[in-house]
Amino acid sequence: MNILIVGFGKVGKIRYEILKKKNFIKKIFIYDPFINNEIKKGMVLDNLNNLELLNIKAVFISVPTFLAAKYTKFFLSLNIHVFCEKPPATKINDLKIIKKILKKKKNINLMYGFNHRHHNSVKKILDIIKKNKYGKVLWVRSRYGKPIDNNYLKGWRGNKKKSGGGILFDQGIHVLDLIILLLGKIIKVKSILNNNFIKKNIEDNAFIILENKKKQTASIHSTLTQWRHLFAIEIFFERGFAVLNGLKTPSGKYGQEVLSYCKNSKKPPEIKWLKINKEKYNVDKSFENETNIFLKSLKNKKKILSCNINDALYLMEIVNKIYKENKMLN
Ligand SMILES: NC(=O)c1ccc[n+]([C@@H]2O[C@H](COP(=O)([O-])OP(=O)(O)OC[C@H]3O[C@@H](n4cnc5c(N)ncnc54)[C@H](O)[C@@H]3O)[C@@H](O)[C@H]2O)c1
Repeated sequence: MNILIVGFGKVGKIRYEILKKKNFIKKIFIYDPFINNEIKKGMVLDNLNNLELLNIKAVFISVPTFLAAKYTKFFLSLNIHVFCEKPPATKINDLKIIKKILKKKKNINLMYGFNHRHHNSVKKILDIIKKNKYGKVLWVRSRYGKPIDNNYLKGWRGNKKKSGGGILFDQGIHVLDLIILLLGKIIKVKSILNNNFIKKNIEDNAFIILENKKKQTASIHSTLTQWRHLFAIEIFFERGFAVLNGLKTPSGKYGQEVLSYCKNSKKPPEIKWLKINKEKYNVDKSFENETNIFLKSLKNKKKILSCNINDALYLMEIVNKIYKENKMLN
């Protein structure tokens, strides 16, 4: 099959490195009007005219967020399968339109890039929950953040029209996605966003509390003013815990990814911990895992069931509630 990558920045290049190793992919075309000429990996296109001549089966969209929905609609209209990086759009209405278009395209797939779901450590946590090893999840606490840098503020991420939001929308969205995955439908959302430090119209900090119907509760602190990189998610169950500290990412800045999990062998409030399991994940397989899911669905002609338009829409609904509560809606 032939593939097109639209947007050849940081993530476009990550996808390219994964795709070029697949022997069933014949040609990889790249479209990015702003890349330097020296980057002549793959086959760089000057425009997107006459795509039907290139026999492109699927496109990977990795552009600034304000362009994501426009390209998604365009490629779906050409019956090209789409993999689009998060966030799915700057405005929820665009996603609703995409859902309508997709309804008419029974054989076309659309998947969104929420790579954090596909870290092997996160898959292990999901497995613990699925096998009901420690009983019901009681609560989840998460922290994700980094220091501000000038590239962030001066680039498209610092421009609300282009990014759609601040650190919550750009990075916190990953933990929000994980929490929805862990807890399911969210009934209550409370939040405080602020921009005290950067003094721009995007949030530099987001404090969010979420709860589902079963009163399982989660908190998120997503921040740009932490002065160091940090990722942590803690899940406490009736009879145990799973704590993930650090995350292997392309930047390599979030520390060693270590999952600790342990069972309380007594009935609470009595506590007798069994041996703590500690698993280190030295390689980030998340981008590859999710790319493989997408490609496999194309090969097997199967519809994508997760990270699809419904997941993206639900996530955007929660994000919108948060922005509305803080009068920061687009
Ligand atoms: N899953 C993750 O962990 C993760 C990490 C980083 C970024 N992302 C997402 O990936 C996407 C891209 O982010 P990035 O960090 O690679 O950004 P980037 O700025 O490094 O790359 C964006 C690229 O898009 C190109 N571009 C701009 N306008 C274009 C146009 N009209 N047509 C085609 N290309 C155009 C730019 O030239 C640039 O090369 C964003 O949606 C971002 O949120 C996801």
